[in-house]
Amino acid sequence: MTNPTNSILIRNARILDPSQGLDRAGDLLIVDGRISKLAAAIRDGSLPPGTQVVDGAGLVACPGFIDLHVHLREPGYEDHETIATGGQAAARGGFTTVCAMPNTRPAMDNASVVDYVLRRAREANLVRVLPIGCVTKERAGQQLAEMWELAQAGAIGFSDDGNPVASPHLMRQALTYARGLGLPIINHCEDLALSKGAPVNEGRISNRLGLAGCPAVAEETMVARDIELASLTGGRLHLAHISTAGAVELVRRAKERGLPVTAEATPHHLTLTEEWVQGHDASGPLSGPLSLGSYDTSAKVNPPLRTRADAEALLAGLRDGVIDAIATDHAPHAVTVKLVSFDDAAFGIPGLETAFGSLMGLVHRGELPLDTLVARMTQGPLKLLGECGKGLGSLREGSPADVVLFNPDQEWVVRGAEFASKGKLTPLEGVTLKGRGVATIAGGRVVFSEVAGLAAADDS
Ligand code: DOR
Repeated sequence: MTNPTNSILIRNARILDPSQGLDRAGDLLIVDGRISKLAAAIRDGSLPPGTQVVDGAGLVACPGFIDLHVHLREPGYEDHETIATGGQAAARGGFTTVCAMPNTRPAMDNASVVDYVLRRAREANLVRVLPIGCVTKERAGQQLAEMWELAQAGAIGFSDDGNPVASPHLMRQALTYARGLGLPIINHCEDLALSKGAPVNEGRISNRLGLAGCPAVAEETMVARDIELASLTGGRLHLAHISTAGAVELVRRAKERGLPVTAEATPHHLTLTEEWVQGHDASGPLSGPLSLGSYDTSAKVNPPLRTRADAEALLAGLRDGVIDAIATDHAPHAVTVKLVSFDDAAFGIPGLETAFGSLMGLVHRGELPLDTLVARMTQGPLKLLGECGKGLGSLREGSPADVVLFNPDQEWVVRGAEFASKGKLTPLEGVTLKGRGVATIAGGRVVFSEVAGLAAADDS
């Protein structure tokens, strides 16, 4: 994110910036890591010497995507991902800012781990990494972590993600302290007494496959509890990866009450359903389940893929703003912990490199306006980030030059083996997606490019 050496002019792109209500053809000039000028046409004579000029015809330029929820696995699980490989995956997916979850080893429950993550992110020099500290020590749910110390070190919020904050008392305390710090608590809502760690959604598919089912109510009771605790304490609550129609309804009502509650949904819960755990037929775009008698652990994720009705409710919530942000919950795992029996397989889907393409399917089918999609990947996340996201998510002149260029019509086939992420197993293997990020500029530095005339920085 430092020493941008070049100025870059993107000519004649469609410039889409929800922060300014902007959607029109134009030119975008980046100088010294900042958006220098945005205009219908920028004259050659006014360009700094050595400016790289990019033909943006057919491409959309928008603020770099912001992902509130990724697992970068470092420190401790570098065989699954590192900050560098996760950063490359982010860059390929069009993300310029990612928020790193603290389920590392050691867990990010003290300042030294936050310092380490920030240092490794600086060394990777790819995208902005914003660390999320733990709510409880070692994410064990017994004692609050040193939240003040974590905030001082740069944590932008607190979460035990992967684990819920099971104790209502601790959750109440956490929200109270977080309020004082002006930061959110991000909860993974799962009542373990109800979910019992079941690997798939409870219903038709769990019955057919003979697997234990995780009921929707395991999520919804904790969402309801946390909303009441946010109301009681005034602390900011962010609901991670909500997956059920009932949870969407609870968030809708909380917002109607004016409570300080935000929510995110993942691309996989928006575009896939529980049938995908049976494997899929990759011959057509998102063509659906293949057959009974097979199963695909790459679709095992927590919370589990749910029903069509749940996905439709999430989408309706995304459209009308009940769901503030799309977050990938990028959860890469080495094949050794995924290519095992369904019960034993780790939960998680590596989502950074397929998020935008899979969501563009909703746009192409007329189910989601493109500007809403971009808003939920740029402006929406800022509601959670508050002051920590100041200046981000915008192409306003003077803003940090975080830009993604995408081709909305480019078709490509998902091949996990080609991911930059170490998480190579994806339920979308072999699926054709339409819509692809073709260049990502983070802080004025080209961190990914497939565009002729736009060279990626070579020192990453
Ligand atoms: O599927 C998931 N994987 N859900 C979580 O909440 C945690 C994540 C992980 O860390 O692998």
